[in-house]
Amino acid sequence: MKRFYVTTPIYYINAEPHLGHTYTMVVADTLARFHRARGSETFLVTGTDEHGDKIAAMAAEHGEPPKVYADRMSPLFQQAWQDCGFVVDQFVRTTDPRHERLVQEFLQRVYDNGDIYFSRYAGLYCTGCERFLTEKELVGGNCPDHKRPPELIEEENYFFRMTRYLPAVQQHFEAHADAIFPDHYRNEVLAMLASGGIGDLCISRPKSRLEWGIELPFDRRYVCYVWFDALISYVSGLKMHGEDTFRAFWPTAHHVMAKDILKPHAIFWPSMLLALGLPLFRRLLIHGYWVRGEAKMSKSLGNVIRPLDMKRQFGIDTLRYFLLREMAFGQDASFNEDAFVARVNADLANGLGNLVSRVLSMQQRYFAGCVQPLEGDTPADRDLQAAFAQALEEVPQWTEQLAFHRALEALWRALDRANKYVVDTAPFTLARNAQNLPRVGAILHRLLECLYTTAVLLSWFLPETSQKMFSLLGLDSPGHVPSNLGWGEHFPPGHRVRPPATLFPRIDLHRDEAAAPRPR
Ligand code: MSP
Repeated sequence: MKRFYVTTPIYYINAEPHLGHTYTMVVADTLARFHRARGSETFLVTGTDEHGDKIAAMAAEHGEPPKVYADRMSPLFQQAWQDCGFVVDQFVRTTDPRHERLVQEFLQRVYDNGDIYFSRYAGLYCTGCERFLTEKELVGGNCPDHKRPPELIEEENYFFRMTRYLPAVQQHFEAHADAIFPDHYRNEVLAMLASGGIGDLCISRPKSRLEWGIELPFDRRYVCYVWFDALISYVSGLKMHGEDTFRAFWPTAHHVMAKDILKPHAIFWPSMLLALGLPLFRRLLIHGYWVRGEAKMSKSLGNVIRPLDMKRQFGIDTLRYFLLREMAFGQDASFNEDAFVARVNADLANGLGNLVSRVLSMQQRYFAGCVQPLEGDTPADRDLQAAFAQALEEVPQWTEQLAFHRALEALWRALDRANKYVVDTAPFTLARNAQNLPRVGAILHRLLECLYTTAVLLSWFLPETSQKMFSLLGLDSPGHVPSNLGWGEHFPPGHRVRPPATLFPRIDLHRDEAAAPRPR
């Protein structure tokens, strides 16, 4: 059995879910659906990161004990992802006792192996990043991501002997060219490793300063550093479903995230896994930032967009389409209302939506919905079929390479051809003469096949739309990606398709100003 394990970062609960988090979820959900369509068993883990300075401070700001605050915030994420229709197999909260026990077990194991020692330390800590920064990382004395100076912290702490594992980590990334994607992030990591500037990792906080964390099993005066705790969620999420699930899925782990947290994933995490005697994850898949204007969207900068508002106004598939079509995976992309409206109207309302409604309404008008035999084979017919055969080949290939924007572009090239085929063959004109009806029936049958292939190829990108299309066609989804078009085989003789329904209403910002997504 082929398997595919995909994770997202577990999100800090100091902010409500926003568009940046939603993008990562859309990517993970799309990949899981794609691998399922290709016959793999899949598992998706996401969750919330609930310990550490940042959350403790936020809870205090709200006048709540941290656990009360966490119990209020974590469900916002869980609910949002459920409302968005993402198929999450395990939502991990780091305050879940099953997770806490595993973190303690792992800490003890590393401690027993002699890889944890006690020492005094002074360093520059950024609470935004929840990690110590090196002088080199600062820009004008500030954290480059959070635009504020880190705090000087000096105290006695426990350290993970990470330096012992760095050569093996380096070797691993040198030997596995696809372990970090896109490749320039692998080069960044290799440069970090080659610089010799990475030391051991401070993995504790004295309770006298921070109580909100998992207690170290070997010293009750300390709690565990939040990143050491959080990364283990990728393992605890599987283990919550039993050791067999862990063993089956772990070697296929794909961790999806933005570039902000590359270092903990590419340096801390593989070192921890090596120290624990566990196999390394399969790949890190690193995407860029969604920005508004110049700034990365983030709660602290106050320029976020709420995914559920977007979903309510435009539907989840409209949002999925825009996010996947507009961002080249690995690069930054900018979110602006005009681009959103233009893209949605051109591609979804016009390109796809119009085709569906034209074809289905002609099928009703001329044949009461009854599908006619697929006769004849003109150059235009062959052209159309070739365009969709190419989409069937290219779309999965681009998806496999995480070039979602290219995959959708390839499918829309075929849809453009279908729209052009309608204009060129002009079934609405032919139908004026009853003699032409067999040809009109054959043209429409071919167009219905275009919709069928489109629904198959949209099943991992726009699952709701794909389902709606199958239901309009009166057919079940095949549930997998077929190896060839199979046109002429999908509609049994006498089969009726449904009357058209609007898949994507046009967005008219001038008529309805309130429909524009607004920053909060
Ligand atoms: N809690 C840590 C992750 C621990 S994983 C073991 C964390 N949380 S976070 O809430 O800050 O989430 C960061 C992640 O959210 C990014 O890596 C990315 O996946 C997503 N994004 C947050 N803002 C984003 C953008 N503006 N653009 C794209 N992705 C964004 O870091």
